[in-house]
This record gives sequence, C-alpha cells and structure tokens, in this order.
Amino acid sequence: AGTPYLKVTPSQLKTMTGRRGKDAWTALGGRVYNITPYVAFHPGGGPELLRCAGRDGTRLFGEIHPWVNYEGMLSSCMIGMLVEEGEEKK
Ligand code: HEM
Repeated sequence: AGTPYLKVTPSQLKTMTGRRGKDAWTALGGRVYNITPYVAFHPGGGPELLRCAGRDGTRLFGEIHPWVNYEGMLSSCMIGMLVEEGEEKK
C-alpha cells in the first residue's frame, strides 16, 4: 500500500541536470521533483528554473519566490524523497 517513492541521494540528484539528454530533477523541502515538463512553462524562464536542477533548490527557490506553492504545483512531478548517501539501499 502507498506509492513506493524513490530514495534519491545528493550524488544521484547531481546527475539530473536537464542537460545532455537527462531529465531535470530538483529537491525542494526534502521532496524530489522531475521538473522537466515544467521548464517550458516557468514564468521566470527555463534557464532560471534550471539553476535548481541537479541539486537541492530549497534555498534558491525560497530566496526568489517563497510565496509560490510548489507542493501544490508540482505534486504530479514528485518522484521521491531526498536521503543521505547510503540511505537509498535501506
Ligand atoms: C516566477 C514557479 C524555481 C526564478 C515564478 C512563478 C512561479 C514559479 C509560479 C510566478 C510567481 C508570481 O508571479 O508570483 C517556480 C517553481 C520552481 C521555480 C515551481 C521550482 C521547481 C525557480 C528558480 C529560479 C526562479 C530556481 C531562479 C533561480 C523565477 C523568477 C520569476 C519566477 C525570476 C519571476 C518572473 C517574472 O515575474 O518575471 N516561478 N519557480 N524560479 N521564478 Fe520561479
């Protein structure tokens, strides 16, 4: 029961930059999102959005638009939880 979310480590996240044919993933508030489908729609532009790709974007996001409800907006893009290195095997 329940959706078996992926456990994503920072080093796995780091490969998902949205470049070289890879999808763009980011972590916000401990959740990992595949933001690839949103790149073309981000009001601040694709390149700005992609600054948070491949890493934890929580701080950057919060510095720019803390009022934006990313949990609601990106719920269908959520793919997993950010965990520490090694935790993905447990
Ligand atoms: C605007 C969503 C990440 C830069 C916006 C707006 C939304 C949004 C909904 C419109 C906000 C409003 O008008 O009040 C998101 C989501 C993000 C994300 C869901 C992450 C998944 C980022 C990042 C940056 C960024 C990482 C920059 C490093 C901007 C800028 C605007 C904007 C500059 C203002 C655009 C304008 O009004 O001209 N974003 N954003 N965003 N975003 Fe993001």
